[in-house]
Amino acid sequence: MELLRNPRAMREWADARRAAGERIGLVPTMGYLHEGHMSLVRIASEKGCGAVAASIFVNPAQFAAGEDYEKYPRDEARDLAMFRTASVSAVYLPGVPDMYPEGYRTYVEVEGVSKGLCGAFRPGHFRGVATVVAKLFLAAKPHVAVFGEKDYQQLAVLRAMTRDLDFGVEIVGAPIVREEDGLAMSSRNAYLRGDDRIAARCLSRGLFRAGALFSGGEREAEVLVRAARAEIEGEPRARLEYAEGRDPDTLAPLSGRVGAVTILVAARVGPARLIDNVTLGR
Ligand code: PAF
Repeated sequence: MELLRNPRAMREWADARRAAGERIGLVPTMGYLHEGHMSLVRIASEKGCGAVAASIFVNPAQFAAGEDYEKYPRDEARDLAMFRTASVSAVYLPGVPDMYPEGYRTYVEVEGVSKGLCGAFRPGHFRGVATVVAKLFLAAKPHVAVFGEKDYQQLAVLRAMTRDLDFGVEIVGAPIVREEDGLAMSSRNAYLRGDDRIAARCLSRGLFRAGALFSGGEREAEVLVRAARAEIEGEPRARLEYAEGRDPDTLAPLSGRVGAVTILVAARVGPARLIDNVTLGR
């Protein structure tokens, strides 16, 4: 497994892999890996990528002032050990000055789909995500890139960016991986202790409740969303940011009878900001 620490090293690796006729899969991460990340690596291999590159970069551009950039969990040695057990051929670990050198001034803004939901609560977040992923694509030159569906709005933003900027990269969404009690896996779950960890179940519980109603024949978007919201609002340790029903493809707001709907939720539980979602009718 090769370690590549700057854009030039990443580009040279990608050029060599392409010259050898290999298909490159990219798994962008911010590290502090869990089973969800490892599923992205497996999916990249299953997509026929003989050369899988994973990146580890805690991207300052996607954290607003006062967010958790400084305390975001980091453990490079553990991450590399985990990637070594998987089919990862190269790990890209650029430093902040490699990605954003002095005088850096170019950002990618994806209109429309970046607004609302997390975009309303995290100003500039998706601009930072789109910018760093564009830079990762330019350095790693992937044929395929795999992102988790837990960050559903992020996935929609990155699909739009990839299409609009003609990157020619196949974007693959990977199903959410959950803990046994339903909590969606996330590096930020490391912030949860004791009662907060138990309280955090309210997000997935609400989504499962909406899913059960949908299975029972309920099709009114408001009723489904209300069920999810009620579980979070009923948890004293949780502070709801949003619970919304959106079109699974466009993320346009939905109301009334729906054939398919994605319910997206975000809440603060103790020191952690958590997000989760479920798509019903697909
Ligand atoms: O989902 C993440 O871990 C990050 O937002 C990403 C896509 C690696 C960009 O920094």
